[in-house]
This record gives sequence, C-alpha cells and structure tokens, in this order.
Amino acid sequence: MCGIVGFIGHKHDAKDVVLNGLTKLEYRGYDSAGISLFNPKFRSFDIYKDFGRVAKLKELTKDAMISNVGIGHTRWATHGKVTKENAHPHYSQSKRFIIVHNGVIENHEELKAQYLANALFYSETDTEVIAQLIESFSETLSVENAILTTLKLLEGSYALLVIDTESPNTIFAAKNKSPLVLGQSEDGVTIASDLMALVGYSEKYIALADHTFVRCEADNVTMYNLNHEILPTSFLDIDLDEADADMGEYQHYMLKEIYEQPSVVRRIVQNYFEDGDIKISKQVLKDIKNSDRIYILAAGTSMHAGYVGKYILEELVEIPVEVHIASEFAYHTPLLTEKPFFLMISQSGETADLRACLMKTKKMNYKTLTVTNVKTSTLARESNYFLELFAGPEIAVASTKAYVAQIGVLAVLAYALSEQSFDLKKALTDVALSIEDFLSSQDVSSIVHKIITKRNCFYIGRTIDYYTALEAALKLKEISYIQTEGFAAGELKHGTIALIEEGTPVVALISNKEISSNTRSNLNEVIARGASTIKISMKKTSHKDDDIILKDVHPLLTPMVMVVPTQLFAYYAALERGLDIDKPRNLAKSVTVE
Ligand code: F6R
Repeated sequence: MCGIVGFIGHKHDAKDVVLNGLTKLEYRGYDSAGISLFNPKFRSFDIYKDFGRVAKLKELTKDAMISNVGIGHTRWATHGKVTKENAHPHYSQSKRFIIVHNGVIENHEELKAQYLANALFYSETDTEVIAQLIESFSETLSVENAILTTLKLLEGSYALLVIDTESPNTIFAAKNKSPLVLGQSEDGVTIASDLMALVGYSEKYIALADHTFVRCEADNVTMYNLNHEILPTSFLDIDLDEADADMGEYQHYMLKEIYEQPSVVRRIVQNYFEDGDIKISKQVLKDIKNSDRIYILAAGTSMHAGYVGKYILEELVEIPVEVHIASEFAYHTPLLTEKPFFLMISQSGETADLRACLMKTKKMNYKTLTVTNVKTSTLARESNYFLELFAGPEIAVASTKAYVAQIGVLAVLAYALSEQSFDLKKALTDVALSIEDFLSSQDVSSIVHKIITKRNCFYIGRTIDYYTALEAALKLKEISYIQTEGFAAGELKHGTIALIEEGTPVVALISNKEISSNTRSNLNEVIARGASTIKISMKKTSHKDDDIILKDVHPLLTPMVMVVPTQLFAYYAALERGLDIDKPRNLAKSVTVE
C-alpha cells in the first residue's frame, strides 16, 4: 500500500518520470498524491500535494519548472485522515529534509515521546516522525549517519526516499519489508515501489534487500547495510514491456485482464511444460512429498484460489491440506502436524499478513513455497521456493487473471506431485479454449440487470463450485458495492434463506455433475420464495434453460472457467452504477499493512 517513486538524472524531467511512475503505482493506493521537485531557479525544493488522485497532482504541477530531481508518493491512508496535510511528501520541522514513505512505523508514538517531545509536527502521520528524527540527529551527525541512526530506531516497515535540501544532487533511499526497486541507465537513477514504474527509464534494476540504505546520485549508486558498510550491487535486466501495463483498446484494466485469461493459461502451459516434463524443482516436490500436511496460507481472492488448490491437491496427491486466513494464522496458529509444509499464495507477493506468517514459519524452521505473480516480491525472495504465475502485470485492484493463474499453477504443482494418467497440458489448453469461447460468444450485460437493481445478491454452489461462489461474491461486492455473499448451496436453508425475498438475486454455479441435482433443488427452494435466479453451468451439467453454459473442461479445472462470467457480472454491475472499476473505494492492490 502506497507507492513511491524518485528520480535523479540528466536527460528526463523528474516530474515526468515521477508522475508517470505514480500513475502506474496508483493501484497501491489512491487517497492522495504528492511530489517534491527541485526548482533550479531558486535552488530549493517545491512540494505539491493534495488528497485525490495522481490526475489532480498532474494539474497542480503543470507549471512546475523542468527539474532533474524529484520524489513522489501515492497514498493509502493508515495514520491520519485523507487530507492535504497528511499527504506525502512530509518534511522536517525546518523543512530541510523531505521524505516519502511506504509502510508503517509501529513505534512512532514511542519515538515521538522519547526524541521529539518539543518538535513541531505538521501532520498526523507516522511518517513525519522519520523526517523529524533525521533532522534532530543531523544537528550532531553527518546526514548519512543521521539517517542510519534513525533507521535503526524504526520498528515496522518502510520503503523510504529522503531529500536533504542542502544537497540537492542526492536522493537517499532505505528499505525494510516494503518493496523498493532501483533502476539505472545512462539518464540517471529511478527508484520505486514496483518495477513497472521503472519501465521506459531504466534497462537494469536491482530489488533492494531489507535493511539496505542507498545513496543515489545521477551517475552513481552506493548501497550500504545499516552499519554503513558498502554492499555489492548486481543488476538484472528489466523484462517488462510498456505494453503490458497499457490499457490498449479496453475501457478498463479489469476488462482487459479478464480477456487476457486464455493467454495467461497458455503462458502457464508454455512455462511449466517442457518435453513431457514439468519445470518445478525436484527439491520442492520432495519436501512436499515428505510432509504429512500442506498448510495453505493466503488472503482474499488468493485464499479462494487456495480452497480450489486444496481440492485439487487432495484429489490428485492425497496429502491432507488445510487452508488458513493469513491474518488469523499469523497470531493464532493451529496445532500443526509433525511434518507440515507451508504454501503461500499471493498475487502481489507483498501482503503483510502473509509476511507475518512467513516470519513465523521461518522461526519454526519450516519450509515454505510461495506462488506469486511478482518474482521480485518480498515473499518470492524470502520463501524457500517460489512458483511464478506468469499472469503479466495485473493493474485493476480486483484480481481476475491472477486468480485463474493461481489455480492453474496449483494444478500444475499437484500434477507434478502425483502420478496421473490424464494430460494436464491438454486440460489447461481446453480451459483456455473454453474461456475464449465464452468471452467471444456470450454477452452478459443483459443478465446483469437482475443483479444490479437489488441491494444484495447471493452466489451458491456445492463442493468445488462453493469456492467459486466465494470468489464471485467478493468480486461483485468489492467493485459494485452490492452486498453479496457466497454460500454452500446446501447451507442456505440453515438460516440465510430468511434473507430471500421477492426478486433477491441468487446465482447458482453448477459444474459438479455428482451434486448438480442437489444444487438445482436448492435453487428451487429459493425460487419458491421469490428469488430471481441466474444459472451458470458446464455443458455436461447444463439444462437447456440455463443462462450461461460453458464448454466442458476437466472437472478439477472448472473453477478456472466458471469464475469468468461472474467476473463480468461484477464488471458490468460496477459499470452500470458508474463506479470506478479499476480503483474501488477504500482498497489497494498490494496490502502491505497488517
Ligand atoms: C480481491 C483481491 C484481494 C487479494 C488480497 C490478497 O480482488 O485481489 O482479496 O487477493 O488482498 O492479496 P495478494 O494476493 O496480493 O496476497
């Protein structure tokens, strides 16, 4: 949550680099945005900031002078309301130091009381403490030592950029827990929360490790540990394309990402299957096989993928699997079996709740595999093993293609762990074809009217469809703000059916042949009480009056297909309501606070 970008260089205008970067990072938070730019005329730094989006910041800065140094921020509020004063950048009391920060300083109250009792604060944020501490220590220490002394006092997470207005040719950066990547080219140095902000300005990057402190000048980058000892730097090539982050012909990123799903599934096939072999390290397979239980830890949509993963793994591998909410597991760990194996699922690879779990499992010396879309992410780097989703950048806050990719990769993992006679490569190709067939042949925008006119909505399904119901409900509520619940179809009659009244929308998901007649009975029960129903089925489970009938795929992979119409329901419901589809209220894509 929160995105930061800094640039120091020669050729580009810092304003352009930082604002373009912030636009790409807006998925990380969009409560407010701000930038500080060096003003060459007055040889000082100007600060522009306000609540609202980066688009507003672009307006505010339209007359700013061309500058070679700048730092910027897009905020998801944690401490302090969404106001101009609480927007970053923040500055120290004398305004000598200017900073942007992503993360949470957990001991900011204590630090304030111990070191800054007489300081004048300009905001309600935890961040400002950092700027004030640096200024206070700089009275007796060099600037670098003042920053390092401050960093050593901070508890919590930070990706930090600092400007000392008295040395305008340097940006200082530091990282702990929150992500930070640094890119370099002949034009200068760009430093940001996500690789995407570097694309177009840097050819090479380095993902900073925790407890790194960096001095960036236009032509020179020096990295230190917190003891001020120089660290080696080794850069990697940036393999992202500007087009990956482009909306193309689509009206919204979410729609583009829904339509990208067939190619995502094909990319999984290309990347994981080679000459009849599956490209997953033998060691991770061995570690899982040696375990007596897999614990899947995840949050939100990724947890729903985890439920499907459990279903597939138990079916194919016959190892018991438990799925846990990361934020619960981190602080209320269940009794573990003797030989547990931990599987973290995360689109972003940055989710703080999961990182708390990882810290815990590491402490207990257990092995962890992370399945994530971001190979430079904290969880990918800190887990023992990681598997990439190959979904490409997912920009819409509501996850769609990453969810489908998560199930696909979990299926590949389960397959690699088992001795199966069916052809998963073909089965995944069938999934791509089935999604493609649906997306090219059916228009759901008319069906969606049954949902959007109501104050609430229910998705129901049994067994594997129940998990799709959970995901479908989350998607609808998070972008259309319609109160929606996903239910095990058989559970409805144990209480929730009391909510069904004339016209209440109930969407039934029917892909499991063995149990489809039971789901249809449950559907009749709600119809008898006035519900307005929509039925989504696979060809082999369909009745001719079903609203959406999808091309058959392997029974274990139906969730990858069944979810797609529900993603479109959510999309069109939000569209009809005139809502901000890609950036729903109160949310952020990368949830880096607990
Ligand atoms: C909803 C959504 C969230 C995330 C959750 C975990 O569309 O995307 O529910 O799944 O915040 O995030 P990751 O997957 O990045 O760990």
